[in-house]
Amino acid sequence: MQIRLKTKITLTTALLVVAVVAVNSGLYVASLTRQVIRQADNRAGLVAQQVFFQAQNALAEAAAAGQAPASDSAADLREYVRKSLDESTALASLIDAEVGYSFLVYEVTVVDIGGTALISSDASLPGRPAPSRTRLSQLVGSGFVNQLRVIYGPPRAYEVSYPFKLGAPGHQVPFGEIRVAVQTGLLRNEIAPALRGAALLAMISVLASVLLVGLVSSISLAPLKRITAQLDRISRGEFDQKPLERGDEFGQVSTKINQIGQQLRGVREIFSTLRENLDQVLGGLEDGLLLFTRDGRAVMVSPAVERFLGAPSDSLLGRHAEEIFPADHPVRRAVRLHDGVFEPVAAAEVVLPGQGEPSRRVGVSVQMITEGVTRMGSLVTLTDLESRERISTQLQVSERLAALGRITAGVAHEVKNPLNSMRLWLENLKVSLPDAEDMPRQAVNVLDKEIDRLDNVVKRFLDFTRPVELHQEESSLAELMNEVLGVARPQMVRAKIEVETRFSDVPPVLVDRQLLKQALLNLVLNAVDAMPNGGKISLSARRRGDTAEIRVGDTGRGIAPEHRQRVFQLFFTTRPGGNGIGLASAFRTVQLHNGSIDFETEVGRGTTFTIVLPLARQLEPALPRPQDMGRDTARNA
Ligand SMILES: Nc1ncnc2c1ncn2[C@@H]1O[C@H](COP(=O)(O)OP(=O)(O)OP(=O)(O)O)[C@@H](O)[C@H]1O
Ligand SMILES: [Mg+2]
Repeated sequence: MQIRLKTKITLTTALLVVAVVAVNSGLYVASLTRQVIRQADNRAGLVAQQVFFQAQNALAEAAAAGQAPASDSAADLREYVRKSLDESTALASLIDAEVGYSFLVYEVTVVDIGGTALISSDASLPGRPAPSRTRLSQLVGSGFVNQLRVIYGPPRAYEVSYPFKLGAPGHQVPFGEIRVAVQTGLLRNEIAPALRGAALLAMISVLASVLLVGLVSSISLAPLKRITAQLDRISRGEFDQKPLERGDEFGQVSTKINQIGQQLRGVREIFSTLRENLDQVLGGLEDGLLLFTRDGRAVMVSPAVERFLGAPSDSLLGRHAEEIFPADHPVRRAVRLHDGVFEPVAAAEVVLPGQGEPSRRVGVSVQMITEGVTRMGSLVTLTDLESRERISTQLQVSERLAALGRITAGVAHEVKNPLNSMRLWLENLKVSLPDAEDMPRQAVNVLDKEIDRLDNVVKRFLDFTRPVELHQEESSLAELMNEVLGVARPQMVRAKIEVETRFSDVPPVLVDRQLLKQALLNLVLNAVDAMPNGGKISLSARRRGDTAEIRVGDTGRGIAPEHRQRVFQLFFTTRPGGNGIGLASAFRTVQLHNGSIDFETEVGRGTTFTIVLPLARQLEPALPRPQDMGRDTARNA
């Protein structure tokens, strides 16, 4: 059970007050009791003394009236005293008054030296031995607890005695005693009103103090409520809080909380910036990353993981490693995972079923994340091996192109000069040949044609290797592709090829229209060539993240596996009459635009080329990268 602070303070204070009041009341009752007993003792002693003086008076009166003991015998003397006392009305009324009206005195008896009652307020007593009772002085001297026990226990009688002596002063002889009995019940009555008053006072003081403490604590704890509200708002992210304007501890605490709130805001901002950066970095990664805690829960899953595992990365967050990679999962066979704990794996290879595509080879690695010697978690990386290999092939192709370009551009230039001089001499020869000579004229014509062809090849080659200056402008892909289709239409009609276009809403791209048109035309013409018996060309453009994706697909013969590595190479062709320049040139154009080109193919089913280009906003001025390809040409030209 939760007890509120205010209740606790009030209860504790109430208990404290009760304890103090109890001790005080105890002391008060003790001193009151002692006082009442002492008073009773004094009062009873006084009564006994008065009775003694009155008895002396009675004896003096009897002597004055001429009465005397019958003889000197003790019995006569006793009888004389008894009679004298018995006959004294003053004595009788004194005793009656004391017993009747005093709250204290319960019995007054005069006894002789043998203890036999002479006269008594109890009429049955005279002539009989008077009961002897405990002395009240004993009770006066006893301890507090004993006093309380006696007074609040069953009623008991105590007595105070006063010696009864006869004879003239200086010659007195003891005769008996005056006993005044006091009853404890009567004493109790004496104390009760004072006790009631004390109890009432104690109760009132306890009640008043509880009320007062309740009031004071609720006033002094009121700022706590506001501090709690302040904390609540900070935890909701409202960091701009005004601290309580107080000089006391609450004010200081509130100011400190405010400072912590400000620090928290800073930390949160840093955190969210880091998080955004991390998300961006993760979003741009081709590899799938899964970060697991020490006990195997996924705390970070990069978006690319979806391409490998088929489940949205958000849905994997917080799940257990053994749930993500169940026992029959291909990845599970490559990694060692026990009770959510991974063991490091350098580079394993698994085949993952593709999501609606053919299955693919995936590299799996597991790294431990440690801090000092403590294991913090594990990082699982999934890599698409095939696309990595494709990229490396593309890189090799472009490197080779560059190298080849450098060498051949020089050679081509060297070929062009003799060709020009050959043509010059041939023209001279043509003019000087006699008309009748058929045979030499035919030879000259053949030479002329061949020189033309050679010249043409060298020109195209030089065109290809010449550094290009890009004339980029914002262009609509749909428009561009429609223009390309317009150019290729006659060939497509002749080959009975259907066209299907799908241009979704793609933002403009910043491109060199002529170059890109030529590249796309090359792809379309290749597709037409691949379908001599008709088929379908699908052209599409769509937005993918920060890029535009263009696809040119056909239902033609496909590319044989042994040719796939080489199609982008300059002069690679399988087509009779082909030059093997189309794809190499398209490749170069895409590279100049900071894009990428790739293809998927299946023999007998068709081929789809995909070009990815950055959107206009992101495009930085593209560097004409293969400058180095034509550097020599440029210098020599
Ligand atoms: N859509 C396609 N379907 C099948 N094979 C293709 C396709 N596109 C290209 N190829 C293959 O790639 C080779 C190279 O193509 P590329 O366009 O570079 O040269 P080419 O078409 O042979 O000659 P040209 O220089 O006249 O274009 C082709 O010869 C062909 O074997
Ligand atoms: Mg071609």
